Amino acid sequence: MISDRVHRIQPSFTLEMTAKAAALRNQGIDVIDMGVGEPDFNTPENIRLAAKKAMDEGFTKYTPGSGLLELRQAICKKLQRDNGIVFSPDQIIVSNGAKHSLSTACQVLLNPGDEAVIFSPYWVSFPEFIRLADGVPIVVNTLSEQDFTPDFDDLEKKITPNIRLMIINSPSNPTGAVWDKTTISRLLDYASEEKWTVISDECYEKLVYDELFTSTEKLNQTGATVLTIQSLSKTYAMTGWRIGYAAGSPDIIKAMGKIQGQATSCPNSIGQKAAVEALSGSQEPVEEMKAKFRTRRNLMIQKLTDIKNVTCALPGGAFYAFPDISYYLGTNSNGKKIETSFQLSDYILESVRTVTVAGSGFGGEGHIRLSYATDEKNIAEGISRIEEALSQLE
Ligand SMILES: Cc1ncc(COP(=O)(O)O)c(C=O)c1O
Repeated sequence: MISDRVHRIQPSFTLEMTAKAAALRNQGIDVIDMGVGEPDFNTPENIRLAAKKAMDEGFTKYTPGSGLLELRQAICKKLQRDNGIVFSPDQIIVSNGAKHSLSTACQVLLNPGDEAVIFSPYWVSFPEFIRLADGVPIVVNTLSEQDFTPDFDDLEKKITPNIRLMIINSPSNPTGAVWDKTTISRLLDYASEEKWTVISDECYEKLVYDELFTSTEKLNQTGATVLTIQSLSKTYAMTGWRIGYAAGSPDIIKAMGKIQGQATSCPNSIGQKAAVEALSGSQEPVEEMKAKFRTRRNLMIQKLTDIKNVTCALPGGAFYAFPDISYYLGTNSNGKKIETSFQLSDYILESVRTVTVAGSGFGGEGHIRLSYATDEKNIAEGISRIEEALSQLE
């Protein structure tokens, strides 16, 4: 009864972890959640007010399928202002979150059996978008000892004539790695040479702590086809509003609009009005949130490096740390062997009531993902708990 397509894909296990934490909390258990994938701040007030105004004025109906012209114009202005890249409104599609844009883009760019390069550790949804489009993920390693930059030797080995697409995600979920301009330019060279389309997932562009962010398209001197995907979710603490967008060549955007129009009619009308304010109004709240994330990151990394036999690269962006916990795989807890990051994550939850996410789900076995989208008290307490749990292992 259920199609093969469904059996090919995995459920979103990061959302499952969120549900697990919520279930424990509902039982009154004091859980520290370091599994979260969204800012803990409320959406800034000016954005909330714009949404209220939209509702009060009856802006509660369908909009054009690819998004309001007003919003697509605001996105063009933003892309020029912040990213230095020039687009016209017919090169923009607004979707119900970047996830929706990414999924539609894979539907548009892949035929059955086409291959798509992703880099591990990867965001959990990338392989599933590809499989949902009847494509095949080609997983290329990154070098954990070199801040998770791509392993170009591995990329060379895995090139086939069937590859059509490459997904770049910098800053990365789950590692927080920010790839430098040389690395991205080198990837663009491959894309241009091999005629791959590049999807650049820039969802965390505003959360880069030690340098200025540069969009992949801005670096594109090669003539490669790049589809830029950005989101309001993380930048403006708007995960629940579901607004993201894609910017690229008019033929790709038009094709995405054709699918989106049939799949969901249009993005949320009130969210779109809020998004106009978010992109065009004061950007001060973004800077304030970023400063808080930077302080939290520093605290988390400092506490993590104090734990015996755990190492962690300093993540340059997003709000995740991806420590190496491989030393503890193969140890025992009360005679029970812990062999995988999944079992370790489960053990940490059971023993010290702290939610982490196993690296294996991101193709990064030997690691766990910790989110610092939670306050400093929780970070300090959560890492102390993890330290205590690890110290019990034999
Ligand atoms: C790398 C990456 N891309 C895209 C998304 C999706 O963002 P949105 O809320 O805009 O759908 C996420 C959300 O966690 C993400 O981590």
